[in-house]
Amino acid sequence: MAKYDNSFTDELRQRLSLVDVISRRVPLTKKGQNYWGCCPFHNEKTPSFSVSEDKGFYHCFGCGEHGDIISFIMKSENMDFKTAIKELADMAGLKMPEFKQKSPEQIAAEENYIKITERTTQIYQDLLYKDSGKHALEYIKNRGFSDEIIKKYRIGYAPKNNIISSTFNNINRDKLLSTGLVRIGDYGPYDFFRDKLMFPIFNAHGQVVAFSGRSLDGSEPKYINTTDTELFHKRQTIFGFNFARESIHRNNRSIIVEGQIDAIQMQNHGFPETVAPLGTALTEDHIAILCKSNRNITFCFDGDNAGQKAAVRACTLVLPFLRDNSDVRFAFVTGGKDPDEILKIGGKEAMDKIINNATPLIDFLWDFVNKNFLINTPGGRTQAEKYLKDCTSKITDKIFQNEIEQEYNSRKFNQWHKWKQQKYTPKIEMPDIDIMTENVIKSIVQTYPELAEKYTEFLMSLNISFDDAQKTDLSIENAEKFIVSLKLQRYLKSLQNEKIELLSNIPENAGDEYRNKLKEIDENIIQANEKLELLLDINK
Ligand code: UTP
Ligand code: MN
Repeated sequence: MAKYDNSFTDELRQRLSLVDVISRRVPLTKKGQNYWGCCPFHNEKTPSFSVSEDKGFYHCFGCGEHGDIISFIMKSENMDFKTAIKELADMAGLKMPEFKQKSPEQIAAEENYIKITERTTQIYQDLLYKDSGKHALEYIKNRGFSDEIIKKYRIGYAPKNNIISSTFNNINRDKLLSTGLVRIGDYGPYDFFRDKLMFPIFNAHGQVVAFSGRSLDGSEPKYINTTDTELFHKRQTIFGFNFARESIHRNNRSIIVEGQIDAIQMQNHGFPETVAPLGTALTEDHIAILCKSNRNITFCFDGDNAGQKAAVRACTLVLPFLRDNSDVRFAFVTGGKDPDEILKIGGKEAMDKIINNATPLIDFLWDFVNKNFLINTPGGRTQAEKYLKDCTSKITDKIFQNEIEQEYNSRKFNQWHKWKQQKYTPKIEMPDIDIMTENVIKSIVQTYPELAEKYTEFLMSLNISFDDAQKTDLSIENAEKFIVSLKLQRYLKSLQNEKIELLSNIPENAGDEYRNKLKEIDENIIQANEKLELLLDINK
C-alpha cells in the first residue's frame, strides 16, 4: 500500500470538518458537545451515531462502528485508502502529494545531514565560550540571556574563518553542501555563516535542521538563515515550536511573535507557548502546524503600519482554520518596542497586559475596514463590505460563517446605517456668518469679556477664530442684542429644519398629534420672528 506522508493526512483532517463531511451523507443535529444522526452502517430509526468534531472521531453506540474522517469515506463509499485520500483532497482543494517512499539512500542521506548539523551545533556552542567568540557571548549576555538559556537553545558562535568546511573536508562534498552550511566560491568551499551569533533551528523532533545567524557588527542583513534544504523548509518551520509544543497543548493556545529572540524571551518569561515564524512572513503551513493542537492563537505584532499589515495577512491565513470554538486574537506592541524589550522593561506583567488586551479576530477585521475604507461614502462602504465578505467566505464551517456575517450585518446596520440617517436628516445649521458679522462678533468678544463669558457656548459653536480682533464701537447693550439676534436666527433655522423634516416624513396615519406638532412649530417660528424684529428694530 502506498504510504502517505502523515503530514498530508494530518493536513486533510485539519482542513476538513468531520461534521461537514459526514453530514453530506447523514443528517446530523448538535446535542451537547457532539453531533448525532442515524448510523449509516446499520439500520436504525433513533440516532445512536455520534460525531465529535473536536476529537475528529465518529462512534456508533448501536453497532460499535468507529473511526475518523478517512475511515468514514473508506467505509461509507467503499473505497480503498488511496482513493479515499484522493476524494478528501478534492474536497479540501488540495493537490495529492507525490507518492513518497523513502529509499535507503535517502534515509542514509538524512542521517548524514543530521550528523553534520549536530556536530556543527556543538562546534558553534564550544566556540561561543572560546576567545574568538568573546564578543558574541558578551552580546548575548547583554541581551539578558543566561548560560542556562544559551545551553537550552544551543546558541553558539560561527567564527570568521571557514571552520565548517575545513572540519568536514574529508566528507563527501555534496553531503556537506546539502546542509547549506558550506558553499562553493571562486576559491573553493567557504562557510555560509561567518562571525555570527548562531541560533540552531530545530525540527519538531528536536533535531537541528538549519541555523539562523545574527550579525554582530551591525552589518545588514541583521539575520541570515539557511536557505531551504531537503530537510529544512522555511515556510513549514516554526521557530521555537519544539520547545513550545507541549505548552501549546497544555495552555490550550499559542502565541506568535515576530522575532526569534522575542520567542525565546517569551518562552522563558512565563509564555512557554510562544513561537515565531522564520523571517518575517507567516505562511499557511505555519498556521496549519499550530492548529493541529488547538485553534487558539494570539498573534503579537508591532503596533506600527507594518504590524497592522502583517496582522491582516495573518487574518486571511487563519480564517480557513477558524471553528466555532476557536479563539484567535491580535495583540499589538506599541512604541516601537518588541516583546523582548517589553519583558525587559515591564516583565511578565507588562506583557500579560498586552496579551490580555488582544482584540478578537472578528473585531480586529471590523476595526480594520472601518479605519481603512471611507465608511462615510457609499463607495467606501461597498469596498468595506466586499472586503468583509471576502474574509468571511474563507470560513469553511457554513453555519459559523453565516453567524459571523450576521454579526457584521448588525454592526453595519447599527454603526453605518445610523450614520447615514444622521447624514440625511436635516441638521440644525449655524446661521450663515459672513465676514462682516464674524468681525463684529470677534470685536465684541475682544471688548466685552463678560459677554464672551455669558454666551461662551453659543460663541464657540460658531466655529470662528477669535484671534487678532479689534475693539468694537458698539455699546454693551447693543453688543448683547447683536449676539442674541444671531442666536435667535439660529433657533429659527432649527425650527424651519424641524418643520421641513416633519413635512417630508408624513406618517401614514397622521392625526391630531402630528397636526399639533406642526402647529406648535409654526407658533414658535412666529414668536421667534417677532422677537427678532423687535431686536433688529432697536438695533437701528
Ligand atoms: P526584527 O528586525 O524585528 O528583529 O525581525 P528582532 O527579532 O527584533 O531582532 P533583534 O532583537 O534586533 O535581534 C524580526 C525577525 O525577522 C527575521 C528574523 O527571524 C527576526 O527575528 N529577519 C529579520 C530576517 O530573517 N532577516 C533580517 O535581516 C531581519
Ligand atoms: Mn528585537
